[in-house]
Amino acid sequence: MLRRLYHDQPETFAFTSDNQKWADAQIKKFPEGRQASAIIPLLWRAQEQEGWLTRPAIEHVAQMLNLAFIRALEVASFYFMFQLQPVGAVAHIQVCGTLSCMICGAEDLIGVCRDKIADKPHMLSADGKFSWEEVECLGSCANAPMAQIGKDYYEDLTAARLAEIIDELAAGQVPVPGPQNGRFAAEPLKGLTSLKAYESGKTQYNASVQLAVDIGDTVKRIDGTEVPLLTPWIAGAAKKPATKKAAAPTAVAVETVPMAESKPRTTKAPRKAGADDLKLISGVGPKLEGVLNELGFWHFDQIAKWTEAEVVWVDSRLKFKGRIMRDNWMAQAAALAKNEA
Ligand code: FES
Repeated sequence: MLRRLYHDQPETFAFTSDNQKWADAQIKKFPEGRQASAIIPLLWRAQEQEGWLTRPAIEHVAQMLNLAFIRALEVASFYFMFQLQPVGAVAHIQVCGTLSCMICGAEDLIGVCRDKIADKPHMLSADGKFSWEEVECLGSCANAPMAQIGKDYYEDLTAARLAEIIDELAAGQVPVPGPQNGRFAAEPLKGLTSLKAYESGKTQYNASVQLAVDIGDTVKRIDGTEVPLLTPWIAGAAKKPATKKAAAPTAVAVETVPMAESKPRTTKAPRKAGADDLKLISGVGPKLEGVLNELGFWHFDQIAKWTEAEVVWVDSRLKFKGRIMRDNWMAQAAALAKNEA
């Protein structure tokens, strides 16, 4: 849409004395040399005073801010919130036509505007009291369809209700803004559909917090050896999130009953043929090889024989716990031992 200055402009513009004081105060908010930053509030106040933004108003604001007129015009013509043509003397109705509102009946609302105000947007009604336009999402999608009238939102509209609102405004009344279907805000019209467990007292916390409390691994280091691995998002991997009555998943229980450790057979030195290169095991670097040697492990066949309890013993002496099971050292060592034989 082309945004041009209206063809019929007033001769002059001046802020009312109160608005002038307000504008001067706005300019003082900005540091020396940055007064131009006050342009939007000043243009907005000029529009609030006159209903729309006239050329003399834009020029007046540009002069106040010591700006070239074109700079002020660029701002005024860029932002759709600035009305560059006269609007209805009583109200300018901005109907949201974006997705949620369109699905919920925005086109019917626009039909009402066409019938009761003017066939085209930005045209004045015959009595000059109203104008309308379609605007992009106004951020009230949960209360679609809606329209902004003046400074306020009228939500959950129907065509019939919007027609009534226009009539009421024409009669000098100001209909109460907000949801027009009895809703307080954006809650479900037919009662709660979520968080019902909380509402009925079945759970103490909201859904995600309750699940976190039930699982109990908020700051627990996960080394991959948990039994069962707690992956509740994978069907069947863990029990359904527990309510107060249901049994909680077993994370805490697993932690409080650690598997007993058992020391594997170790030797003080490698066999005569020399130590195996334990670095061939994926996950074992030079440092870990040194640690394993210090613990008394020199050969693949030693590692291949570790039982679960022996893994616990070795694991507790390594810096990075869980690595043995994660990289399955025993299987790797068994294969390497077999190759050697
Ligand atoms: S789609 Fe209309 S307010 Fe968001």
